[in-house]
Amino acid sequence: MPTALDLDREALVSWYSRNRRRSETIFDSVRPEAYESRPIPLRNPICFYEGHLPAFSVNTLVKRGLGEGGVDAELETLFERGIDPEDEEAVGGGQSAWPSRIAIRSYAAAADRKVLAALAGADIAAEENPVLAGGLAAYTVLEHEPMHQETLAYMLHRLRYDQKIRPAALAAARIGGEPPVRASAHVPAGHATLGADPGEIPFGWDNEFPSQRVEVGAFDIDVDSVTNRDFLEFVDAGGYEDETLWDEEGWEWRAAREVRHPLFWELHRGVWMWRGMWDLLPLPMAWPAYTSHAEAAAFARWRGRRLPTEAQFHRAAYGTPEGVERAQPWGDAPPDATRGHFDFAAADPVPVGSFPRGSSAWGVRDLVGNGWEWTSTVFAPFPGFEPMPSYPQYSADFFDGNHWVLKGASPATAKELVRRSLRNWFRGNYPYVYAKFRTVGSP
Ligand SMILES: [Fe+2]
Repeated sequence: MPTALDLDREALVSWYSRNRRRSETIFDSVRPEAYESRPIPLRNPICFYEGHLPAFSVNTLVKRGLGEGGVDAELETLFERGIDPEDEEAVGGGQSAWPSRIAIRSYAAAADRKVLAALAGADIAAEENPVLAGGLAAYTVLEHEPMHQETLAYMLHRLRYDQKIRPAALAAARIGGEPPVRASAHVPAGHATLGADPGEIPFGWDNEFPSQRVEVGAFDIDVDSVTNRDFLEFVDAGGYEDETLWDEEGWEWRAAREVRHPLFWELHRGVWMWRGMWDLLPLPMAWPAYTSHAEAAAFARWRGRRLPTEAQFHRAAYGTPEGVERAQPWGDAPPDATRGHFDFAAADPVPVGSFPRGSSAWGVRDLVGNGWEWTSTVFAPFPGFEPMPSYPQYSADFFDGNHWVLKGASPATAKELVRRSLRNWFRGNYPYVYAKFRTVGSP
């Protein structure tokens, strides 16, 4: 049984500090006049998240876990939870006067001191306490922050360039030339293990448990994710005007919002451009197309194919001809910068196929990194699911049939989150995410 002594406290403290420094860099890149703006209408304003991150850590680890007092009860209620509401009216409960950034940062500094003290010295893995057992609350806090850093990245992506402070040392985007020739890989019938079992990994979110063994029939899958070049063909062929390619919800969204191209694309004087984090670029044809699920599914239908199921993604990414399943597409080595485009390596994507060392056993590329991948699987609990004691609402609130599973990782996914069992999910008409896709067909 894991005890407090088994946890590497130094590693947890340094992980927390690393998280906090990265968050600070993110918030520092927002100009003061944009601090209370809401670049994505259905989300809270930017300032909320600078308070939410430390407040969540105090609420989860210090108050809920250790049963100690917090720092500021009022702020810990205000900043309690990020939300995914149905409509714009539901956001923020009418809150309009947010604390100043100075006040939020001073709260955060006090919260950090409490959390760091707990990680360094408190009984944070007390087995008799379900919130703490195995270090649950500590890991919850440590993975919660980088997840928000990713949502903040795609939120800040929507700010105008004059609302952001460009980093002084910014590497040039890797544009690439024409994409590789389209190819598909054959994956024979076999099994895939989704999720994980408790004790198999140090930490997982509740929706990752328990593991599921699924039999998967043979299929073929695109070697590379769909590129902007590929998607441009769909746009030029009138894909956005052909209702038969879209599911009902997708078509409704397309029509209501007059969507005619991916959100990351902009047409400037007849020329397609990519809205990068820091620059507007001529559309890089070799980059993956970032789209909503609705657009991805319409494209797949136009090609006479489908999006992979979650199990097909697993089989393509982690399966092998020998029948053994790997921890990562490339094997059991931990994720690093040679395997894929993740861990904040850059703010924008890179050309597809840039990481041959990250290929799966079937030669499928970029399954992990360079953008999450949409699947055709509706987000639902695995049989035997139990809400996690440290954050019971984490997944349960989203088992509504309106969210799709995404797998893999994006450029803004921390390497600590790059694990086989991790599942991400979004609504089908949510176009802001760093999400790409590939298609499958019958062999
Ligand atoms: Fe949160």
